[in-house]
Amino acid sequence: MAAFVRNLWYAAGWATDIASDLIGIRILDEPVLLYRIPSGEAVAIGGTCPHRFAPLHLGRMCEDGSVECPYHGLRFDRTGACVLNPHENGRIPGAARVASYPLVERHGVLWIWMGDAAKADPAAIPLFDQVTDPAKRTVKGQTHLAANYEIVADNLLDLSHTQFLHANFLKADHILTAKHEVSQEGRTLFSRRWIPDIVAPPSFARQLANPTARVDHWIRARWDAPGLHRLDIGATLTGRPEDEGIRIEGSHLLTPETQVTTHYFYSHTRNVALDSESEDERVRNWHQVGFNQQDKPMIEAVQRRMGGVELLELHPILFSIDAAAMRARRILARLRGEEQPDIISQEAAE
Ligand code: FES
Ligand SMILES: [Fe+2]
Repeated sequence: MAAFVRNLWYAAGWATDIASDLIGIRILDEPVLLYRIPSGEAVAIGGTCPHRFAPLHLGRMCEDGSVECPYHGLRFDRTGACVLNPHENGRIPGAARVASYPLVERHGVLWIWMGDAAKADPAAIPLFDQVTDPAKRTVKGQTHLAANYEIVADNLLDLSHTQFLHANFLKADHILTAKHEVSQEGRTLFSRRWIPDIVAPPSFARQLANPTARVDHWIRARWDAPGLHRLDIGATLTGRPEDEGIRIEGSHLLTPETQVTTHYFYSHTRNVALDSESEDERVRNWHQVGFNQQDKPMIEAVQRRMGGVELLELHPILFSIDAAAMRARRILARLRGEEQPDIISQEAAE
């Protein structure tokens, strides 16, 4: 399996889900402890005590913001340094420390940097400002998949699967013939489909005054490494400006837990029904049925069939619908190579 790219921002969680409780999470196969110190700032340190390897999230946060190991009471501060040893007359060995990770709270997301801290530039965090836009309404959640994050990204980067896997929600017969444009700016990919003058797909029709009206429909995705997707799916009455239309913006943030499991943080932001809790419920249900019951079993079944072998080694048949996903894989391979030059020569030789 391909190595993880470390020098990137990864989503560690929704900011609203992290309070003073200690949260243990595995990211890039490393145990991480997330919590908020008394000032309210969220921090991330290594999640395993270096004494006898107790999980630190089972401990407690002390008044000074340090974390006490639940097993024999060593305490660690936000920098990962051991600041108290209740044994050995208080002597603190040099090895008594855990990792600490740069953590930035932005757009309602906690972004963690798993690589060289000197390279952690918050300006590189992709824009997900719709999540906290007060003029819109957002429903958020998270789920977990038994699949490598690149296989999950394949699903999000090729939304033509909606015609089959989610035909009951998003059927729009013209999508398969619509022109699919994929472009790249730096390390960012864009995938766009424009489907003019069709009967509104069901998920949009019910928001229209006339549910049988014809609309111009768009499906766009932006991808940034490692697996940060911003989707923009909308419909406006045929010929009318997009801004008059109904728009659902999604963030789909994939964070590898291990090589074969993925944390998936998602949000759906809408510009209609802003006060409607029943619409929130409908969106949650949409995600439950659309993703958890349709995408997730398919993605996990694909992972099982692929059996941990890299996609290209299996010689898949590739179509134009795969263009964005294949470019994303190439960008990740390049980033891996930049971090670990011997990997790129290996991948090139294969
Ligand atoms: S395992 Fe943490 S203090 Fe012993
Ligand atoms: Fe899907």
